[in-house]
Amino acid sequence: MEAAYAVRDNPVSRDQQAPRPGAARPLLTIEGLTKSFTVHAMGRHIQGCYDISLTVMPGEFVGITGKSGSGKSTILRCLFRTNFPEKGSLWYDSAAFGYIDLAQASQRQVVYLRTHEIGYVTQFLSVLPRRSAYDIVLQSALETYGSKQLDLCHSETEKMLAHFNLAEELWAVYPRTFSGGEKLRLNIAAAMIKQPRLLLLDEPTASLDNASKLKVRELIEQLKNQGTTMLGIFHDLEFMEGLCDHEFNMQEGVIA
Ligand SMILES: Nc1ncnc2c1ncn2[C@@H]1O[C@H](COP(=O)(O)OP(=O)(O)OP(=O)(O)O)[C@@H](O)[C@H]1O
Ligand SMILES: [Mg+2]
Repeated sequence: MEAAYAVRDNPVSRDQQAPRPGAARPLLTIEGLTKSFTVHAMGRHIQGCYDISLTVMPGEFVGITGKSGSGKSTILRCLFRTNFPEKGSLWYDSAAFGYIDLAQASQRQVVYLRTHEIGYVTQFLSVLPRRSAYDIVLQSALETYGSKQLDLCHSETEKMLAHFNLAEELWAVYPRTFSGGEKLRLNIAAAMIKQPRLLLLDEPTASLDNASKLKVRELIEQLKNQGTTMLGIFHDLEFMEGLCDHEFNMQEGVIA
């Protein structure tokens, strides 16, 4: 799909990133990502992540592991621009914009990418109030397929909710009252229905029972077969055995 607005040009960095003839072109190249937080009230400076570099090729499923507080979520939040990166570049090969540094992308570009190309399953679900579970997933389907394909959007929404065993009596309910696992399954359903080009997963199987974990694994496998590139944080990466192409282990803000 053509972007309605132009990418900010950065010829030097673009040349540096230009793939060599015949060389496979990474979908994502993180170079020297650093993010720290200043908590003014406490006069504290906290390191989120420091000098992170990693590459993800198209179609790969890359896992990030590491202990709590080591900076894993910070990396994903910088990619999704929930956190503004402090230093470094986040080169993403966008269908609409070509190579674009997510650290430099304009707010409009970020909104476009979030809607059409990059999905994010957050560690903690926060949903819009007064929207039913069904409407949340349907909205994602509409952003992907468009309102002209309304029947398809409804059938995909039903398929997705059923896949994650979300009981039909919950479909019309506001998810504020859902259990942790139900919220998480809804969150994953809304992200995965979009079959994004790049999917960021922050502990998508935490707090799920074994059957639900298997459902997540099944869809990850399906998305991988369809070409979605994934970068995911997992405590139990063994569960993704056979699917995960590379693992990065974080220690105190840096990759070990
Ligand atoms: N907005 C913020 N303000 C202040 N400190 C923050 C903020 N976000 C993250 N941090 C701090 O940055 C560090 C890394 O946090 P992050 O959420 O990336 O850890 P994590 O590896 O994902 O941990 P977990 O496995 O528990 O989810 C932590 O010490 C955290 O307290
Ligand atoms: Mg985290």
